[in-house]
Amino acid sequence: MKKILVTGGTGYIGSHTVVEIQKSGFEPLIIDNLSNSDPGVVDLIGRITGQRPLFEQIDLCDLPAMQDFFKRHHDLEGVIHFAAHKSVGESVKHPLKYYHNNLGGLFHLLQCMLTHKTARIVFSSSCTVYGQPDQLPVTENAPVQQAESPYGNTKRISEEIIHDTAKASHLKAISLRYFNPIGAHESGLIGELPIGVPDNLIPFITQTAIGKREKLMVFGNDYNTPDGTCIRDYIHVSDLARAHVVALQRMTGEDSKQSHEIFNLGTGRGYSVLEAIRTFEQVSGVELNREFAGRRPGDIEQVWADTTLANLKLGWKAEKGLEEMMASAWKWEQNLATGIMNK
Ligand code: UD1
Repeated sequence: MKKILVTGGTGYIGSHTVVEIQKSGFEPLIIDNLSNSDPGVVDLIGRITGQRPLFEQIDLCDLPAMQDFFKRHHDLEGVIHFAAHKSVGESVKHPLKYYHNNLGGLFHLLQCMLTHKTARIVFSSSCTVYGQPDQLPVTENAPVQQAESPYGNTKRISEEIIHDTAKASHLKAISLRYFNPIGAHESGLIGELPIGVPDNLIPFITQTAIGKREKLMVFGNDYNTPDGTCIRDYIHVSDLARAHVVALQRMTGEDSKQSHEIFNLGTGRGYSVLEAIRTFEQVSGVELNREFAGRRPGDIEQVWADTTLANLKLGWKAEKGLEEMMASAWKWEQNLATGIMNK
């Protein structure tokens, strides 16, 4: 079976991708430093797929440990690289932590891949690189803008490092620019596990609904949008996960001639914060305690994806709608409360 290294494979998007990798007949090998995830996820993946994936606790910043891993697994078909810090607010307070971890980890990974002639990498990028685009929906050709945060900057710089490295070597690369991944696996066994108070909208909604948070604050109702709240392109995490496998497969075939390709991953449809809240309330039957608050600094007014390129070249399309995303996020939050996944 072909082996795929998944860095950050116990995290939110990583764990869902490991499930999809196994479903597609590849053998995932997970490395993760567990800085923002739980090792129990490995067993839960095994419960979903019937096969517990291999897992090693390795920090990508630890070069000798990375070199050792690659020596032991020199026959990798490719790498899917998720391992990175992802909190926008934290990155503004601790920029060096983000530059050190997100860029340092990538350097080591690429060095090892070049040494061991690993041929393919899929990189976890973000629509944050577009800032507020002039034209919507946003295509991959839209200009990359000055990042709002060190986190966003690490995504932009990482894409450039990968681009230059692929151009100068045997490496093939695909960067996937995610819009807003939400929801959880249909089994209800894996999902997003925010530590502390969540920054992102959907975990905040589900935690408010379950009673962990008193009130949801809606950041801004005076934007230039139909209902005054921000618009985002929410995408089900399982749809997103599937795209990673397709991207890897594209690089093994004849279709990808370029050394580095970039694809947007979204549904192509934008929803406002109020529409997201209403959809959640409909599918859960829970009315949220909420209040309007001022705008959150750094927020983009509205962004949604043009997914034509991914649809045509990857042959991939998001399938799940907002109701299904919200229902799965709610099931996951309820499962977390009962601890059903640990039984
Ligand atoms: C944020 C990051 C983005 C990153 C992504 C990773 C910013 C500016 N962007 O996306 O770079 O890739 O997280 O997860 O931080 N909202 C509320 N109340 C809340 C939380 C959010 O009203 O309690 C609103 C926000 O103002 C925004 C929308 O909900 O309009 C979505 O917010 P969020 O889920 O944090 O995602 P982004 O900000 O789009």
